[in-house]
Amino acid sequence: MKFFIDTANLDHIKEANDLGILDGVTTNPSLMAKEGISGKENIFRHYKKICDLVDGDVSAEVIATDLEGILREGKELVEIADNIVVKVPMIKDGIKAICEFSNLGIKTNCTLVFSAGQAILAAKAGASYLSPFIGRIDDSNWDGMQLIKDIFEIYSMQGYDTEILAASVRSSLHIVEAARAGADVVTCPLDAILGLLKHPLTDIGLAKFLEDHKKAAVK
Ligand code: E4P
Repeated sequence: MKFFIDTANLDHIKEANDLGILDGVTTNPSLMAKEGISGKENIFRHYKKICDLVDGDVSAEVIATDLEGILREGKELVEIADNIVVKVPMIKDGIKAICEFSNLGIKTNCTLVFSAGQAILAAKAGASYLSPFIGRIDDSNWDGMQLIKDIFEIYSMQGYDTEILAASVRSSLHIVEAARAGADVVTCPLDAILGLLKHPLTDIGLAKFLEDHKKAAVK
């Protein structure tokens, strides 16, 4: 399973990248706004900085919701760097745009996915990645991870190439569950990635090893 970081924060991206396990980055308009980035020029400049930091795919989301606008924005976004993936919302014109991008060899990430039916449409359109939002589904008292399992089963059975990118991850446990459910990629905040490192028995065990080493050195 590939690891993407879900942020537009350059320090967080650097920290995850320095771990050596980072395969890419996802952003969205809310994450860009959180970093105080606004205006087309600044937004494009920020995407460039992210693309220069990581080798893997960087999802950059379109703002347009009509076919012509989505296609225009997507073509501008892919000019920023070779590793840009155009993030397109799961709407009618979004599906049409994904078909066109796919024919042009432009990689896409179909976002705001909340059902298996939407997942089938995106795969048929030729999306490179599909982003089911597991945390937001959990927030509304449904089972986000069950959706990943359902999509995994359908994609495996039907032989679809679209990669399942578990998004809206809220915890380290979500990452483990997404791996068990068959996600190809998980995108998560830095805290959730770093949380995977933690286990109290590791801390206790390491403290004991270091203490025993020190005692042996004194003898
Ligand atoms: C990433 O591609 C999604 O936009 C993101 O994971 C959404 O996360 P949220 O539900 O925490 O806003």
